[in-house]
Amino acid sequence: MRIRKAKTSDIKQIQKLINEFAKKEQMLPRSLNDLYESIRDLFVCEADERIKGACALHILWDDLAEIRSLAVSEDSQGTGIGKRLLAACLKEAEQFGVKRVFALTYQSEFFKKMGFSDIDKSKLPQKIWGDCLRCPRFPECDEDAVIREFSRAKPLTCIKSCNSEIEMSGFAEIEMS
Ligand SMILES: CC(C)(COP(=O)(O)OP(=O)(O)OC[C@H]1O[C@@H](n2cnc3c(N)ncnc32)[C@H](O)[C@@H]1OP(=O)(O)O)[C@@H](O)C(=O)NCCC(=O)NCCS
Repeated sequence: MRIRKAKTSDIKQIQKLINEFAKKEQMLPRSLNDLYESIRDLFVCEADERIKGACALHILWDDLAEIRSLAVSEDSQGTGIGKRLLAACLKEAEQFGVKRVFALTYQSEFFKKMGFSDIDKSKLPQKIWGDCLRCPRFPECDEDAVIREFSRAKPLTCIKSCNSEIEMSGFAEIEMS
């Protein structure tokens, strides 16, 4: 099992994975065009030449990024893939110097296990006035907003149990607002 950046040859499998959950209204659907255009955002988990999971880090502002399209195939859930994909995105956020990463989700308890905490959606102005306006759920969005904030002044505490090749060294401790 390997966490890596997505390739164009992964995109159809990624779309199938995401859109199966979207049909059950667990997440938003993504078009192929949208996925190809945002391929640089995407990490995948590959095992046995199959895509078992995907997750995107989408940078919105100098200090704000969003976790999008986190999905793990049903037959692989509960094996740590979601945690590893999220860890890869958080590490990338840190590399880009982005200190706040949020998600809109029905799985807030999963995110809280990963160091996120609840936040009022109104505190995410770039998100609300940008992508949300184009979202089919706007303005009736019932997803929870969760955020994880980093402080470079503090030492590593991130996801020590994450046994993947995504190294978390240099990752800063989180300060919740
Ligand atoms: C939510 C999801 C991404 C979790 O991925 P996963 O690979 O099954 O999760 P992991 O195995 O990495 O679990 C990591 C930890 O979170 C916990 N966890 C997993 N899903 C959870 C949930 N829904 N609620 C609370 N805790 C959860 C696990 O028990 C594990 O805890 P541990 O470290 O104490 O053992 C996956 O269930 C999924 O794809 N769901 C459908 C799509 C979806 O809702 N995506 C979220 C869109 S934002």
